[in-house]
Amino acid sequence: MDQKILETRVNIFRFTELEPEIQVLINKAKEQVDNAYAPYSNFRVGAAVLLQNGALFVGNNQENAAYPSGLCAERVALFYANAQFPQVPVRAIAIAAHTGDNYLAYPVTPCGSCRQVMLETETRFEKPIDIYLYGTECIYHIENAAQLLPLRFEKKSLEQNH
Ligand code: THU
Repeated sequence: MDQKILETRVNIFRFTELEPEIQVLINKAKEQVDNAYAPYSNFRVGAAVLLQNGALFVGNNQENAAYPSGLCAERVALFYANAQFPQVPVRAIAIAAHTGDNYLAYPVTPCGSCRQVMLETETRFEKPIDIYLYGTECIYHIENAAQLLPLRFEKKSLEQNH
């Protein structure tokens, strides 16, 4: 038997240690929890996407009485950004979550489907996306979407000869 250990690097920051541009991005994600539509979970998520051209797009989770029809904040923001600027790479995304009482103390980490969509955006433009996950205690920075999705399924998986 062989074994493979897969590692993910997470850089942990305090808010004040981040560049001003990233602080702005995180604040935009935090603001967005107010516009979430989350009557079923009361778990309000905000996302902010920064493009290479400086454009900024925001989103939040949009729930539905038919639960699977809802969409996470990250995908709302990313799809919106990609729809407006289909040729412009995404530089960074920030995500924050609020329980109705407080922002989470430790960072919210994106669901598998959102990781998959971030990965598609990253591979589409061949540019890493910096991912910032907000918590009041600390902020996680992951240097690209691939780090968040080991053993990923991507475009080149479809092109492999078996
Ligand atoms: N949610 C997000 O919007 N992003 C995440 O990263 C995790 C989960 C939403 C989906 C649903 O509306 C609520 O949070 C509870 O799962």
